[in-house]
Amino acid sequence: MNIDLSAHRRRFMDYVAGFRDVPDAAPLRLKVEHTFRVVDHAEVIVDSLAEDAGERAWAKDNEACRAAVIAALYHDCGRFPQFRTYRTFLDAKSLNHAVLSFRTMRDEVFLQEESSRVRSLAFCAVLLHNRYELSPKLSPQARFVTDVVRDSDKLDIFRVMVSYLDNALPERDAVLLHVKDDPGCWSPKVAKDVLEGRVARYADLRFVNDFRLLLGTWMLELRFAATRRALAHSGLMEKVLAGLPDDARLRPAVEKLHAMLEECRNGRGVKG
Ligand SMILES: [Fe+2]
Repeated sequence: MNIDLSAHRRRFMDYVAGFRDVPDAAPLRLKVEHTFRVVDHAEVIVDSLAEDAGERAWAKDNEACRAAVIAALYHDCGRFPQFRTYRTFLDAKSLNHAVLSFRTMRDEVFLQEESSRVRSLAFCAVLLHNRYELSPKLSPQARFVTDVVRDSDKLDIFRVMVSYLDNALPERDAVLLHVKDDPGCWSPKVAKDVLEGRVARYADLRFVNDFRLLLGTWMLELRFAATRRALAHSGLMEKVLAGLPDDARLRPAVEKLHAMLEECRNGRGVKG
């Protein structure tokens, strides 16, 4: 599918240029890189729809596909004012960045030339991209567009996290959301989430290893076969899991995550 995003890409870069004066802005530069990778992945998903038996019908919905790729581009635009004002990406210590992204898109009229359907689907996906769970009442179109963004976002967060989990870099704190780096520790509550097939919650994270477990549970909600395969082929999840301590109490959870990764490799949906 050929979706021309060039005008939006320029608009996004003009918007980002307005944050050049923010001091110590390395985390913002990472957000620009993150954004373009999320867009790349959203394009891969959209291009894969025709070959994905369960999703084939969406390949014909040009507006929904366009909304998904546009939403991928703007999904984190609220991170820029968030960081400038609060110096953190922690929503709990500032505000919900998805709401801020939505308000920014609306106030800056980024989507003015788009049809009202594309606009409202893209707004919806941006607003919901960071929700712990999505309402079952969401329309199938809104759900589809939101899932494209959520899958794409997660796939790139795996990459970002893997690069920070093992390296002591200055931006590390901002990326890891200030959890404790104690290689032998994890939270039993998060390990229980893995065993019971639930996505772990950010609010429960206390240690870096909890982050590894949380990333593992994200495999449960990857919707598109293209994302599951891309994750399995990237080798990122192996790296996430390799850092977990070798401890008999944690082993069942680690084994379960490895089994889930095998399901991803086959493109199959992962069951909890
Ligand atoms: Fe986000």
